[in-house]
Amino acid sequence: MKVTVFGIGYVGLVQAAVLAEVGHEVVCVDVDQNKVENLKQGIIPIYEPGLTPLVKENYESGRITFTTDAELGVKHGQMQFIAVGTPPDEDGSADLQYVLAVAGTIAKYMDDYKVIIDKSTVPVGTADKVQAHVATALAERGADIDFDVASNPEFLKEGAAVADCRKPDRIVIGTDSERVEKLMRELYAPFNRNHDKIIFMDVRSAELTKYAANCMLATKISFMNEMSNLAEKLGADIEQVRKGIGSDPRIGYHFIYPGCGYGGSCFPKDVQALVRTSQGIGYQSELLEAVERVNYRQKDKLMANLNHHFNSDLKDKTIAVWGLSFKPNTDDMREASSRVLMESLWQAGAKVQAFDPEAMEECQRIYGNRDDLLLMGTKEAALQGADALVICTEWTNFRAPDFDFIATTLKEKVIVDGRNLFEPVLMQERGFSYYAIGRGD
Ligand code: UGA
Repeated sequence: MKVTVFGIGYVGLVQAAVLAEVGHEVVCVDVDQNKVENLKQGIIPIYEPGLTPLVKENYESGRITFTTDAELGVKHGQMQFIAVGTPPDEDGSADLQYVLAVAGTIAKYMDDYKVIIDKSTVPVGTADKVQAHVATALAERGADIDFDVASNPEFLKEGAAVADCRKPDRIVIGTDSERVEKLMRELYAPFNRNHDKIIFMDVRSAELTKYAANCMLATKISFMNEMSNLAEKLGADIEQVRKGIGSDPRIGYHFIYPGCGYGGSCFPKDVQALVRTSQGIGYQSELLEAVERVNYRQKDKLMANLNHHFNSDLKDKTIAVWGLSFKPNTDDMREASSRVLMESLWQAGAKVQAFDPEAMEECQRIYGNRDDLLLMGTKEAALQGADALVICTEWTNFRAPDFDFIATTLKEKVIVDGRNLFEPVLMQERGFSYYAIGRGD
């Protein structure tokens, strides 16, 4: 099938590449000329396992092309995906200007039937807005052309985006049109072979499904972080509690890892957006507001532990930071806990020596050159001359470090671990002051 994807971000690019891989002819449109040129040369704007060879291969075979020419994009695909960003407005609600701009562009150039598919995470009611926007623009053109608007939210995880997209656990499609159902079934047939993963529903339910999924996951994390704080105060070990509750299949082991707060471009933004949507309709979401507050508090936890150890005197101390990205296998630092920590450290007059396997460039881009931030080439180098080590991200190669080296390199044997990578008893035996999450003071 002929497919056009507007917006070559995480979601758009991965979806486009995977659709091309199974044989669809995909045109990707973006306003960023530089990004488009880079993609043509095989330079991928993000770090995502497996994505570079996938894009290259499909570009070389001609199944995927990149352009800034919106008219070409609109003329190409019967299926028109909108996958542009919906950044938070000042008040936290999703900003729809880019989505509506694409809708306007499609209306401007279309000359036959199109299915316009909202792939971006958009507030409930957006498909109706897109519908109205396109209808008005077509009427202004005096064009009487049929179209449908469907909602098809994306559930991929960063760091596993290609795999998630190739093997989705569900494909949620919001539409009330049989014609769209048929076309979407055809589009997704290659991903729907073993059992039927497509769940058709009305448009508003599909839009809310996306928020409900992310808010549920964020709630699980904040719940566990709340429990971890209680465990600390009550002399219990959250890791034992985690195993104890996860064994109940109604709760499950997934996504109940306590830590230094959730980050990334999705959970913080989506929880906030649903809180704002609720407020907008006069409903106060007590639960989601608490989920957000608990997360803010949790992100301060690493600094609180350092303050506790150093009696709130961090001036002129050097802190080694392992892990800058908001989670492993990505270079994304949006809403990362490491940022809250580093910014607090700088405010307290401390210096940061950081290492991350992928996010160093991103960190440099965000913070530029400053005297109190040194980006080190290895995790070992980050320890040189540092007073303490803080672990913000559970990258695989942080899991079994050389503890003797850490002990002899750090000025004080202090590890603040935001991801519960080690056993507190063993750490004590090794002579460390070890501060984990919810595992005793
Ligand atoms: C999240 C969802 O998991 C995806 O299903 C969704 O499609 C995506 O948002 C989106 O809306 O686009 P992602 O942001 O890539 O995916 O990251 P996650 O793997 O969900 O992790 C989010 C944060 O939660 C990370 O900071 C991670 O460290 C934290 N987390 C995760 C925990 O603190 N504990 C856990 O048990 C799991």
